Amino acid sequence: MGPAMKQFPPSSVTPAQGCAWVTGASSGIGEAVAIRLVQDGWTVMASARSADKLAQVAAGQDGRIVPVPVDVTDLEAVKAAVASIETMHGPIALAILNAGTYTPDSAKTFQSADVRMHMEINVMGTVHCIEALLPGMIARESGQIAVVSSVAGYRGLPRASAYGASKAALIRMSESLKFDLDRLGIKMQVVNPGFVRTPLTDKNDFPMPMIIEAEEAADKLVRGLADNAFEITFPRRFTFLMQRLRGLPYGLYFACVRKMTGS
Ligand SMILES: NC(=O)c1ccc[n+]([C@@H]2O[C@H](COP(=O)([O-])OP(=O)(O)OC[C@H]3O[C@@H](n4cnc5c(N)ncnc54)[C@H](OP(=O)(O)O)[C@@H]3O)[C@@H](O)[C@H]2O)c1
Repeated sequence: MGPAMKQFPPSSVTPAQGCAWVTGASSGIGEAVAIRLVQDGWTVMASARSADKLAQVAAGQDGRIVPVPVDVTDLEAVKAAVASIETMHGPIALAILNAGTYTPDSAKTFQSADVRMHMEINVMGTVHCIEALLPGMIARESGQIAVVSSVAGYRGLPRASAYGASKAALIRMSESLKFDLDRLGIKMQVVNPGFVRTPLTDKNDFPMPMIIEAEEAADKLVRGLADNAFEITFPRRFTFLMQRLRGLPYGLYFACVRKMTGS
């Protein structure tokens, strides 16, 4: 397609164009998204570090979920995983870059090792996947990438300095890449969930307003892939509130979040 005929934003991909790749697919949102994508006709490459858990997710899916164990912090391993998927299963048309981690922090326990871990997994892990995917997608002039960030990346929240910083970086990086990717025929979206019940949030010892189950989150995420909107966000009532908070001047912002969280 000539440059004058390119569609903005690029259209969503379909299973006819290749397979889907979901990182962080061994539990929580990623697992539910992999299963949900199979229902939409996709063959899904499922990645995480735990080969055992991936095998359990793939069981009973008639070979439509293929475990591809990889640690996203290892660039060479990620590149090898993408190359092997594309050799054996054809192009990766759709990538849901969802692998992530979260440990609550506080000023008293603030440590570089903790921040580095969040940056390595959440930011660099996603960067490695994008680096491995782009040459193929650019050559094909098609593809779709959804980066799973969080509403915790909008502005600073209590006990999430490392996590929030890593998720803010993902939002900003995805926004920036979108300008180029639009012209290259590749659809870029960012996913900003509120609270979803998963092993990641099971460690929270505070009330999580409007929390939803992973299956509902996966359904909303997959429906959002077909939308033109850059941001996919759910549950809407909660994320709408977070979006209003994002626009407040600092004085009001800190006062509101203190009141809401008791921090
Ligand atoms: N749950 C929420 O409320 C919520 C809200 C906003 C955003 N999110 C985001 O949603 C994403 C999924 O989270 P979740 O809630 O579903 O948590 P989860 O159940 O803990 O899932 C995290 C996934 O990431 C994988 N992972 C972690 N480190 C990895 C690494 N180095 N290499 C490859 N895979 C790795 C984990 O598998 P292994 O341990 O086997 O590697 C697991 O499959 C995360 O990016 C999270 O930040 C979650």
